Amino acid sequence: MAETQPRVLVSQAEIRRRVVELAGIIERDYADAEEILLLGVLRGAFIFLADLARELKLPRRIDFIALSSYENGSDFAGGVRLIMDSRINVTGKHVLIVEDILDSGRTLAYLLETFEARHPASLRSCVLVRKPGQEVPVDVDYVGFDIPDEWVVGYGLDFGDHFRALPYIGVVEPAAHEPG
Ligand code: IMP
Ligand code: MG
Repeated sequence: MAETQPRVLVSQAEIRRRVVELAGIIERDYADAEEILLLGVLRGAFIFLADLARELKLPRRIDFIALSSYENGSDFAGGVRLIMDSRINVTGKHVLIVEDILDSGRTLAYLLETFEARHPASLRSCVLVRKPGQEVPVDVDYVGFDIPDEWVVGYGLDFGDHFRALPYIGVVEPAAHEPG
């Protein structure tokens, strides 16, 4: 696939400003916490997590989890399954899940249920972008940007593993979906 330049939806400067702003809000919310555990969801959240983690001035640890999702015919709750678990035991920890996108809500609902069952001291979630119209009700604590229902790429987000390293959040124009 040719990597034609996606149209800018959220610029690098806007992302930068919002990450700084979110870090400030998170710092205030966790002012009394001894330490927080940032749990990044691979792969889409890796750049967002890297920037957010470096901006935060709280004692923090970082770990990653990876998921596999199933379109249909799944045996797993919500069609989502944990394929790589955290190495750090979350029991008694202040856990902040850092995810790329909130779309149907299935992924985040699954993660919140899975990690709540392990009795963290607290459990919150932060997503870079939220699309409209969740099919599953889910409580999200921090949202970077509310965006329209379009396929977005860049800043960690992909289209067939392309575009992850773009410094901005963009939309792939229909022509780019066509082969060749
Ligand atoms: P949900 O379970 O429907 O909320 O799915 C969200 C997941 O789908 C995200 O973690 C992304 O991995 C993926 N996803 C949904 N929309 C997009 C998009 O526009 N670009 C890239 N990935 C997306
Ligand atoms: Mg994801």
